[in-house]
Amino acid sequence: MNEEIPGLLSEFENKLKDVSSLTSLEELKNEYLGRKGIVNGLLVKIQTQDVTVRKTSGSEINVFKKNIEEKIADHKTNLLRVSESPFVDVSIPKIKLPQGSLHIVTHAIEEISRLFERLGFIRMSYREVEWEYFSFEALNMPKNHPARDDFETFFVDVSADDKWGRMVMTPHTSNGQIREMERVKSTPPIKMINIGKTYRPNWDASHVPMFHQFEGLCIDKGISIVNLKGTIDYFVKSFFGFDRVFRLRPFHFQFTEPSFEIDISCDVCSGTGIVNGLKCKLCKSGWLELGGAGMVHPNVLKSGNIDSNMYSGWAFGFGIERVAMMKEGLKLDDIRVLYSGDIRFLQQF
Ligand code: DAH
Repeated sequence: MNEEIPGLLSEFENKLKDVSSLTSLEELKNEYLGRKGIVNGLLVKIQTQDVTVRKTSGSEINVFKKNIEEKIADHKTNLLRVSESPFVDVSIPKIKLPQGSLHIVTHAIEEISRLFERLGFIRMSYREVEWEYFSFEALNMPKNHPARDDFETFFVDVSADDKWGRMVMTPHTSNGQIREMERVKSTPPIKMINIGKTYRPNWDASHVPMFHQFEGLCIDKGISIVNLKGTIDYFVKSFFGFDRVFRLRPFHFQFTEPSFEIDISCDVCSGTGIVNGLKCKLCKSGWLELGGAGMVHPNVLKSGNIDSNMYSGWAFGFGIERVAMMKEGLKLDDIRVLYSGDIRFLQQF
C-alpha cells in the first residue's frame, strides 16, 4: 500500500473545496496531473522499487489519478452551473416558449390592404364614432331611412349638433367616402380603401355587434362599371383563387346608382350548387354573397363637393369576417366564436 496516497488525497480534497474559479481549478489540476505534478512525481518515485511492489503501487497511483480526474471534472460542472450567473443553468435544455398567432380577421385585413395598395389605392382608417351626417345624410339616406332607426344603429349619448346631427358608432365604412372626398379637397382622382370597425345592434349566431368592413372608392374622369368589374375581378382572383368567378346582381342602395350585390362562385361545389348529388351545404345555390357595390350616386358626389358632370366613380363595401370565412371555407355554426377568445379556435389560423 502506497502510504503517501491517503494523505495526498485528503489534502487534494481540502484544496478543491476552496476552488471557486475555473482558473484556480486549472492550476490545481496542473499541480496534481501536470507533467511535473504530484501524480507523475509518485510514478517517478516507484521506478526504483522492486518489480512486484512497483506493480501494486502503480495501480494504486492510477486509481488515485482517476479519482482526482473525476473530482476535478465534477467540480468544473458545478462551477459552470453557477459561475455565469446564479439564474442561468446552461446545461438545462431550452424552454420552447408558446407562440401566438394573428387573428383570422387581422390576416384578412393585411392581405386586403396589400392587394389594393398594389393597385395604387390608399389605405385609410376613418373614424368609428361619427356624425350622423357622414354616415347617412351625405350618403343620400334621408332622415326617415330605416337604417337610421334606433334598432339598426348605435347612437352615442351626447347632445346632437345642429349641422351634423347625432353621433353614431359607424354602422358601415361608407362614411369614409365623404371623409376621403373632403381630405383630397374635392379634387379627384381618388383611390381609397377604408378599413374599419362597424357596429350594429345584433347579437345572434350569424351577427356580432362589432364587425369589420372594407370600403373601396374610385373617382376620376371617365370611370365606369367596367373599372369596377375589373377591380372586383382582380380582388376575387387574388384573394380567393384563379378558379373563382363573380357576378353582379341588381340591388338597391341609396348611395349608388346603379347598385349591385356581388356574388362569388362557391368553392365547395365549384359553383354548381351540388355536392355528391345533394344541395351544397355552404351556398345552396352555387353562389356566395360578397357585399354591395355600385356607381357613386350624383348626390353623394355633391355632398363631397365633386362635380358629377365632370367626374364619376364606383364604390363597394364588403364585410371582412365574411370574406375571411369564405376564403378559409369556414362555415361557423356561430360567428360569435370569432370573438370569444377561445384559444382552441384561434390557434388554427
Ligand atoms: N354600406 C353598405 C352596407 O353596409 C355596403 C355598400 C354597398 C357599400 C354598396 C358601398 C356600396 O360602397 O356602393 O351594407
